[in-house]
Amino acid sequence: MQRLLLHLVLLASFVFLSRDVYAGITSSFVRSEFPSVDIPPNHPAFAVPKGHNAPQQVHITQGDYDGKAVIISWVTPDEPGSSHVQFGTSENKFQSSAQGTVSNYTFGEYKSGYIHHCLVEGLEHSTKYYYRIGSGDSSREFWFETPPKVGPDATYKFGIIGDLGQTFNSLSTLEHYIESEAQTVLFVGDLSYADRYQYTDVGLRWDTWARFVERSTAYQPWIWNTGNHEIEYFPYMGEVVPFKSYLQRYTTPYLASKSTSPLWYAIRRASAHIIVLSSYSPYVKYTPQYKWLSDELLRVDREKTPWLIVLMHVPLYNSNEAHFMEGESMRVVYESWFIKYKVDVIFAGHVHAYERSYRFSNVDYNITTGNRYPVADKSAPVYITVGDGGNQEGLASRFRDPQPEYSAFREASYGHSTLEIKNRTHAVYHWNRNDDGKKVATDSFVLHNQYWGNNRRRRKLKHFLLTVIDEVVSI
Ligand SMILES: [Fe+2]
Repeated sequence: MQRLLLHLVLLASFVFLSRDVYAGITSSFVRSEFPSVDIPPNHPAFAVPKGHNAPQQVHITQGDYDGKAVIISWVTPDEPGSSHVQFGTSENKFQSSAQGTVSNYTFGEYKSGYIHHCLVEGLEHSTKYYYRIGSGDSSREFWFETPPKVGPDATYKFGIIGDLGQTFNSLSTLEHYIESEAQTVLFVGDLSYADRYQYTDVGLRWDTWARFVERSTAYQPWIWNTGNHEIEYFPYMGEVVPFKSYLQRYTTPYLASKSTSPLWYAIRRASAHIIVLSSYSPYVKYTPQYKWLSDELLRVDREKTPWLIVLMHVPLYNSNEAHFMEGESMRVVYESWFIKYKVDVIFAGHVHAYERSYRFSNVDYNITTGNRYPVADKSAPVYITVGDGGNQEGLASRFRDPQPEYSAFREASYGHSTLEIKNRTHAVYHWNRNDDGKKVATDSFVLHNQYWGNNRRRRKLKHFLLTVIDEVVSI
């Protein structure tokens, strides 16, 4: 009898402790919110640069697979002007130049400015470049830095921003992001929220947003992804082609990763392989996105890029009342691949709050098994939702109760994240809350690499490093 009681106590403590391991935190922090209204169009945050036909809305993104090219984009408001980019490695000396393209579009009655895209390629890695666009007194100069050569121990600091919009909360997020000194933004969709407007204001709010983010986008690449607010299906205006404004204004290097659509693609940057998926394009079996992803995952070489990061708009694990289970259909299709290929982390937006998961999976579930709950799974990615950029729709403040076991930390505040890759095995992650105008690091953890964290590979790496040390000592 005593033995039975002892067993029961041990079993109870095991269950208690096991549950305790995955007890997540629902933050009780309640911030005083700036009003979630868009900044007025005449506000200095949207200032138009001085000079006739001066280039505005300047933004850059990676232009190839490995970070030796950028695409520079801008708008000239009055006339096409020049699509030429002058660039070089010293300030005011522009030894090289590249020729871009120019186009414009209409959206209902709105007529866009002249949109320029210019591919600047053949760059050196880890180099600061200065560039000039526009002509005469109206020309403008900026700079950017290329990433280190793709390699397993290249250090790099990424920022992650989602659902940004153009409110005073958005401004706070953007200023805090710039303070963080990260080198590239991984953007998880829903850019301007211009689709919340009607008629010509839709286009005008795309223009204000691009001027608003220029303080960052002109100086470092933003890796773009689309959300539902980019779809812009407006039959009442005769505009029914999905993603029309976005595709005109934002370009991606999709051809470099053999994609057939700018909406899904991949890049390699420093020690990371980054896969961008479109939540609002077909993704089930036999679709182009499905086929492309199956091929791209085979191209991932963890010996060269240890970090495998996936971006999408709709989270696959989300315990907020807002958009609950909207990612379920994509989870059913792709989750087993994310586990098989040892994806390190998946960033999503859409839900206007912050949430981080433990490593959980639900791949055992199908419509005939009874295993319908997510279970702890060391092979699974960490899922992080950062749809907390600060747009005009406000916070998603109602989390489901009780907090599911897969949910590690959740808080309904605005903010942004950073992921600082230290080497092939470790990266440091932070979520930074906008706390009444201040940036406060609130959630952080060390991300262990899913590929190099494997014991056998760790031993192999240790052996390799010891051999190198021996060689250095013997010289
Ligand atoms: Fe969204």
